[in-house]
Amino acid sequence: MEKLRLAVFASGNGSNFQAIVDAVQDGRLHAEVALLVCDKPQAKVVERARQAGVPVFVFEAKQYARREDYEVEIVRQLEASGVELIVLAGYMRLITSVLVEPWYGRMINIHPALLPAFPGVNGIGQALAYGVKVTGVTVHFVDGGMDSGPIIAQTAVVVRDDDTAESLAVRMHAAEHELLVGVLAAFSERRVLLEGRKVSVRAQ
Ligand code: GAR
Repeated sequence: MEKLRLAVFASGNGSNFQAIVDAVQDGRLHAEVALLVCDKPQAKVVERARQAGVPVFVFEAKQYARREDYEVEIVRQLEASGVELIVLAGYMRLITSVLVEPWYGRMINIHPALLPAFPGVNGIGQALAYGVKVTGVTVHFVDGGMDSGPIIAQTAVVVRDDDTAESLAVRMHAAEHELLVGVLAAFSERRVLLEGRKVSVRAQ
């Protein structure tokens, strides 16, 4: 089977990006990271991509009049790179129909909560503030709403009584990396089926 050509979108640290790159390098994931898209030139993820030899498209939103304008450029870059699947991994920007419409069903997001609970920013902080005993991570298809697309996979993470945002984040990130790589492996083996809101992942 051909390698799955991925684009990863990220805005900050890029630990999920790194988990994907590591899984590709050690043969757990039959894929190629064909492009990193980043809206923050100084982000650590840009350095990670350079280290890994992954091509980078970095932009600053303030240099464009409207969100749609940089997204038109992103779509061009995705096409030029032959990307098959977009992974939003800590990409902290709302996206518009310029991206969603042509890429629906081929764009996924990782979110640090058990959706539909705690969408939007700071999923970890929202869960702690609410006092839930179990939170977790979600990988879902991206639609036009806020973290509202069809759910592909979720992992639960138990909240301990003495957790801080930092201690919980350590276990959340570990759960994210494992879940995301597993989902991408399923995509690379063409085992993911989307029908309406229902997503099935065939067993290997
Ligand atoms: C991850 O926890 C991801 O779930 C979250 O940003 C973090 C990025 O970490 N995404 C969102 O909150 C999106 N709403 P990373 O840069 O180390 O991969």
